[in-house]
Amino acid sequence: MISDHAPYWWQRGVIYQIYPRSFADANGDGVGDLAGIIRRLDYLAGTLGVDALWLSPFYPSPMADFGYDVSDYTGVDPVFGDLATFDELVHQAHQRDLKVMIDFVPNHTSDRHAWFQESRSARSNSKRDWYVWADPRQDGSLPNNWLSVFGGPAWEWDELTGQYYLHSFLKEQPDLNWRNPDLKAAMLGVLRFWLERGVDGFRIDVAHFIMKDPELRDNPVKPEATLSIHKPLGEYDSLLHINDQGHPDVHAVYREIRRLLDSFSATQPRVSIGEIHIFDWKIWATYYGAQLDELHMPFNFQLLEVEMAARQVRKIVDGLEASLPQGAWPNYVLGNHDESRLASLVGLGGARLAAMLLLTLRGTPTLYYGDEIGMTDVDIPVDEQQDPWGIRMPGLGRDKCRTPMQWDSSPNAGFSPATARKTWLPLAPDCMQNNVKRQLEQPDSLLNLYRQLLALRKSSPSLQTGDYLPLDAIPGNCFAYRRRLAGYPAMLVALNFSLDEIRLNLPDLKAGRLILSTNMDRSEQINLGELTLRGVEGVLIELSGE
Ligand code: GLC
Repeated sequence: MISDHAPYWWQRGVIYQIYPRSFADANGDGVGDLAGIIRRLDYLAGTLGVDALWLSPFYPSPMADFGYDVSDYTGVDPVFGDLATFDELVHQAHQRDLKVMIDFVPNHTSDRHAWFQESRSARSNSKRDWYVWADPRQDGSLPNNWLSVFGGPAWEWDELTGQYYLHSFLKEQPDLNWRNPDLKAAMLGVLRFWLERGVDGFRIDVAHFIMKDPELRDNPVKPEATLSIHKPLGEYDSLLHINDQGHPDVHAVYREIRRLLDSFSATQPRVSIGEIHIFDWKIWATYYGAQLDELHMPFNFQLLEVEMAARQVRKIVDGLEASLPQGAWPNYVLGNHDESRLASLVGLGGARLAAMLLLTLRGTPTLYYGDEIGMTDVDIPVDEQQDPWGIRMPGLGRDKCRTPMQWDSSPNAGFSPATARKTWLPLAPDCMQNNVKRQLEQPDSLLNLYRQLLALRKSSPSLQTGDYLPLDAIPGNCFAYRRRLAGYPAMLVALNFSLDEIRLNLPDLKAGRLILSTNMDRSEQINLGELTLRGVEGVLIELSGE
């Protein structure tokens, strides 16, 4: 049970997502690799000060979906390195007290995976049932109306054996059948393989997709009036996805996965975080498990979907707090490899406020590489676009948020050696002005704000695990809350989401010491009877006598 040893590292700490293709390229082929990540561990653990890394897939893959189409779950694609380099990465990270989480992609493999090759070779093959195969309907049409997230039907005809196979994403990503006990055992074996290699946890790709309606019934058509909370996905939004994902049987699988993780956790606590795009809090919360015996956390993406305004943000934080099962631990995400860059969504001022929000709320924050220097979406010329989603459905491409990390002002911005001719995606046009090195030299840069916030969080048990107590009697465009843990100084966070100066009157809180402003230009004793916040300013105040 969580409470026996709380707080664990994954509750106290901050996770940093690395998209391996785009973080650091050691061998000069224009694509990031594991050796590149090893060289940047001092930046992550020391300069920046995060606690855990999550690596997006680095497994052998034809790269139809850039690694989310895995052709071997227990290897490393040569473009990223080899297993020995992976082991070295884990070793070096652990020496720096950094945890390493990896991506587990349970819903689908690549169509080149040996399992699928076998499965499609004959109806009688022993691995036939490891994937989801179906006959056409009586009239010869598709087995049902399910759609692929990436556009078009979710079924692909297989000439050789005369059946359709299911692919919730690309046709190069056939869906696995978790109802088959041998497949399930093989996938648990994959987890065991990496647990034995010392990984600290898994980010589980589209975790809610793995169990579908066993009868493969149609999805109902979505009533016109139903609002889509998640970003618009085109035709996919025309259906209610109640049969092609999230079947209640999914919970038994996560209980089994949790038991496996727990069996490795006595000396080294392991964690599972599910990528779950469910925006109904009640259903979302079920992934913790009725006895907190499933995922340690389902990723909480709700802040990605709202306008960064005080009321909306508070509504989400309060909504989350109210829906959490007793003893479950919250988390927040403001960016990842599938979404627009934070700085493009909220601007540079907004990004400073968002940094303070993310790193002071109650719950584990996950940072996306490059957000700490305010990397923005990059317009990729059509002939350089890589993401299959954007190529199939213009406008939905994700290349814009996957451009190479901007390290310094040398050629290739320090991402690839100067000798590399081309990086896999173009560097952002501002990379010579905006990069890690430049920002380290500017005392009030966004990067230095992140560094201070991370350091303050690390030194404050109240910020790490204290209660969240929102303040009510304040102007509507401000969001303020206390973080309080018995025995430690309480913290007050006040965030002004408007462009105008506002004045807060909090006489009940007496005095405090302002220790950080998002503008990084003040630190002073404060009388909380009259606290002034400038436009788009956030402050962190250590309260006296609480
Ligand atoms: C998840 C990943 C995304 C990938 C998809 C299919 O949503 O985050 O990048 O394309 O799954 O694997």
